[in-house]
Amino acid sequence: MAAPRIAVIGGDGIGPEVIEQAIRVADAALAASRAACEWHRMPWSSAYYLRTGHIIPEDGWDQLRAFDAILLGAVGQPGVPDTVTVHGLLLPMRRKFDLYLNLRPAYLFPGVPSPLQGKAPGSIDMLVYRENTEGEYAPVGGRLYPGTPHETALHTAVFTRRGCERIMRAAFDGARKRRKSVTSITKSNAQGFTLGLWDDTFTAVTKDYPDIEARSLLVDAAAMDFVRKPEAFDVVVASNLFGDILTDLSAIVTGSVGLAASANINPERVFPSMFEPVHGSAPDIAGKGIANPLAAILSVKLMLDHLGQPAPAAAIQSAVSAVLNAGKVRTPDLGGTATTAQMADAVIAALT
Ligand code: NAD
Ligand code: IPM
Ligand code: MN
Repeated sequence: MAAPRIAVIGGDGIGPEVIEQAIRVADAALAASRAACEWHRMPWSSAYYLRTGHIIPEDGWDQLRAFDAILLGAVGQPGVPDTVTVHGLLLPMRRKFDLYLNLRPAYLFPGVPSPLQGKAPGSIDMLVYRENTEGEYAPVGGRLYPGTPHETALHTAVFTRRGCERIMRAAFDGARKRRKSVTSITKSNAQGFTLGLWDDTFTAVTKDYPDIEARSLLVDAAAMDFVRKPEAFDVVVASNLFGDILTDLSAIVTGSVGLAASANINPERVFPSMFEPVHGSAPDIAGKGIANPLAAILSVKLMLDHLGQPAPAAAIQSAVSAVLNAGKVRTPDLGGTATTAQMADAVIAALT
């Protein structure tokens, strides 16, 4: 099989730091299976923008389309507006490549302390299906009469039946391979139009999955239960904004945002899927060499699964689990003193 071609966008802050370590781990795991990936590093970042005036060149999207997958660190840098980074690269990528399925697993690994008391290893094990192309993130709105007392801002959420249905079906299909339970996150008690359509679609989709337990929770109550009883969640399906917020919460109850991986999937495989840690560019620790690379490493694991490389993917998962369980090498977010590179070294050493 030809080596998959991967576009690598390290981006800003800790993005390139964690991505380079994830590539080292992937290379080691792939080599053990006599496989490989071709990594093509794209310099697109805030620094590139400051140099060239754009964050991605004009033909950048065409370039990206030709790859088998995209591995992304994070974008966002103090002093560079979000309109450039987030709205110029990350969010358009999710929409242009129809990456409507944002998978965000959260698992309490043995050896990792949860900030919640008395949680047994493995007892928190959820998989969030976040809608990734519409909802509250749709770039529909504007500012009127700027700088006047009448200044007015509108940002319209866009929910479509097709958009709700496809993420919900994916969640139910996913639940069949897990503990057969789906929780839909809503707020239709307040936002009756958009989340009313979300709820109606959920009710319709549940009828096709009589074997799956389905329930609906208001997002505020869900936020409480992610802390109070996170064991109660298996598959969770949420809109773009709710899914974003709840997955920082699912990340921290399972130890650290430095462990939270994500996959942005185009299930039809018309476009390359994109893999990235849940965390951002972490300007507060950037350049110090202490960022936890495991979220990026576990994102590469999700990428290898997607690319049909289950053996190296499983090897990475087991190695990460073994390193965390041993507890000897830990970055500061997990209470240790290890560097980003030392953490990756430990994972490479644990690959079997
Ligand atoms: P953040 O996730 O970058 O950081 C939040 C906190 O978590 C910080 O204290 C940081 O030090 C810590 N943290 C994050 N990743 C870590 C890691 N791997 N190891 C150890 N600690 C880690 O969120 P923020 O500070 O709200 O955002 C910073 C910038 O990143 C913003 O510009 C934001 O828009 C951007 N952002 C980008 C992405 C992305 O590109 N996918 C995702 C989230 C945020
Ligand atoms: C994430 C990030 C992004 C999001 C930001 C940077 C727009 O927080 O991927 O979780 O909200 O989707
Ligand atoms: Mn987020």
